[in-house]
Amino acid sequence: MGFFNWAAPAFGHFADRWSPESIEEIVGWLAPYLGEQKRILDVGGGTGALARRLSQSADAQVTVLDPTPEMLRYIPTDGPIKGVVGTAEAIPFPDDSFDAVIVTDAFHHFRDQPGAVREFRRVVRKGGGVLVVELDPTGLVMRSIALGEKLLGEPGAFFTPDAMCEFMKTHGIAGNCAAIRGVSYRFVGTVR
Ligand SMILES: C[S@@+](CC[C@H](N)C(=O)[O-])C[C@H]1O[C@@H](n2cnc3c(N)ncnc32)[C@H](O)[C@@H]1O
Repeated sequence: MGFFNWAAPAFGHFADRWSPESIEEIVGWLAPYLGEQKRILDVGGGTGALARRLSQSADAQVTVLDPTPEMLRYIPTDGPIKGVVGTAEAIPFPDDSFDAVIVTDAFHHFRDQPGAVREFRRVVRKGGGVLVVELDPTGLVMRSIALGEKLLGEPGAFFTPDAMCEFMKTHGIAGNCAAIRGVSYRFVGTVR
């Protein structure tokens, strides 16, 4: 976790990149999955910038799971969202604890991606959702970013949108992928 330990202050300042439009979009993708309690787990949620906005806009109970305490310390302990130390591959919650899992700009950092998806299927109730916002590695910009991350000691395992859909389906979460903006795309799938 070296990279995120020292990079945490930068994320603390710049991670709140979510415009009202992008939050509205995310709430729309999650809405079909949210039950009465609206329990969302933001895996690799870092400083909690997205979680804070989602808890306000969707009136949801959002928990941020992240292995880097330096990132989580930007989440006020007396606020509406909860920060928990842990990894996607070993989520410290019982089965069926959430209506949805979200992962933004973090899936490519997971060292055991099949293990992470297995955990999503375990902690999300049947009929709940998984939303992954990722970076499409196709193209020069993303190849440069991927190289930069590798040189900084945090090599990523990126998927193209088609490969992400196929990967998720193979690991039990059927869904669809769509380009969103810039080099980003989103996967939305249902836990069966
Ligand atoms: C680029 S940051 C993204 C933070 C936030 N989701 C966002 O969109 O701003 C990636 C985050 O993934 C976390 N991370 C890395 N490996 C992880 C793992 N195995 N399980 C969960 N989170 C992980 C890092 O600690 C970091 O906070």
